[in-house]
Amino acid sequence: MSSSQHFRIEPGGRLSGTVRLPGDKSISHRAVMLGAIAEGVTEVSGLLEGKDVLATIAAFRAMGVNIEGPRQGRLTVHGVGLQGLRAPQRPLDLGNSGTSMRLLAGLLAGQPFTSVLTGDASLSRRPMGRVITPLTQMGASICGRDGRPPLTIAGRRLRGIDYELPVASAQVKSCVLLAGLYADGETCITEPAPTRDHTERMLRALGYPLASPAPGRWCLHGGGRLRSVSITVPADISSAAFFLAGAAMTPGSQLLLPGVGVNKTRTGVLNILHAMGADIEVLREREVGGEPVADLFVRGGALRGVTIEPDQVPLAIDEFPAIFVAAATAQGETVLRGAAELRVKESDRIQAMAEGLQRLGIDARPLPDGMVIRGGNLQGGCVDSHGDHRIAMAFAMAALVAQGVIEVRDCANVATSFPNFVGLAAEAGLKIHES
Ligand code: S3P
Repeated sequence: MSSSQHFRIEPGGRLSGTVRLPGDKSISHRAVMLGAIAEGVTEVSGLLEGKDVLATIAAFRAMGVNIEGPRQGRLTVHGVGLQGLRAPQRPLDLGNSGTSMRLLAGLLAGQPFTSVLTGDASLSRRPMGRVITPLTQMGASICGRDGRPPLTIAGRRLRGIDYELPVASAQVKSCVLLAGLYADGETCITEPAPTRDHTERMLRALGYPLASPAPGRWCLHGGGRLRSVSITVPADISSAAFFLAGAAMTPGSQLLLPGVGVNKTRTGVLNILHAMGADIEVLREREVGGEPVADLFVRGGALRGVTIEPDQVPLAIDEFPAIFVAAATAQGETVLRGAAELRVKESDRIQAMAEGLQRLGIDARPLPDGMVIRGGNLQGGCVDSHGDHRIAMAFAMAALVAQGVIEVRDCANVATSFPNFVGLAAEAGLKIHES
């Protein structure tokens, strides 16, 4: 992927008006995947047309699924049923998308064919042992290169397992549940802490019996059927996070973000920003397509540093780049521990954010599993996103309160999750330019 796209953001400004954010990435992936193996036609609206989701769509097309769109967030998936996928003729290239790879690994482990999953340089560095281990216990034949992509999956008959997740990961949980659809007998997983439950909700919405005999424990029997439904994807709270942090830390900002997904397994960013004193109202809470949704209204003001509660970590796992920038502007110290997972995301987000914040004059000390940030005056400067979409967008927002121009290098991957970020951010008042 090209690394030649850079952002240049003039300091100052504020965020105002209404920003309609793109669809939720996690839910969009699942809509494509479960729609493809359902019986009947699934109509999706509000789909994220980011590169990660397009990679998932391309993978299912390569397995014989007829998919129309996406056009303006609308996608029509002609489901082939649980047994209807065909062997792909070449490796499935999943680009930058860890969700595509880990969920597909589960889905493909039980197919009667062999498939190969590859990705870009970042994805090729990410740990896949966490899915290889449970899938192997289910009887799958799956190998990687030192536990990393590419993955070669020789599909075969699977058996159900009872698996206790060693890390709180929705991708691993979903991978095992999807494999469980193809396994003999019952598959159960227990998670160490709540993580996003979009797979569970969507399985149920498509009529698949899924039991939760205890909190954090999920069980299903293989061999059932999924029946297509219409799926409405809410706006992505992970994309909202940049606007929430940006507006909350910039006095004079007043921003409305309509229709944002506020599933309790995703709202750590709201809890943490509220604890920092952010003025964010959660309005018109409602349910859309089985997911809680609300309009978020944020006003700028002063923030204070906080010690982030460990139970918030999985609930805000993708939002820490934005939260770190807010912390850099807050009064006092913000402390995060128990978040070693941040080191194995699209980049090492602890290192990348600490480096970037230090370059902007902030006292940011990386820890093996977190960070200590002392709020201060953000200077201008040049920071590297390390090809990580969320690092790029977080540093772009830092310019709102910085004392000089911020340049962010290597921003092409913003298109993986938020293709129209620059346009929407500029419309809301960020003085951002691409080059
Ligand atoms: C996701 C789960 C999270 C998150 C990722 C999307 C998902 O990953 O970071 O961006 O859609 O299931 P982990 O499960 O590895 O924490």
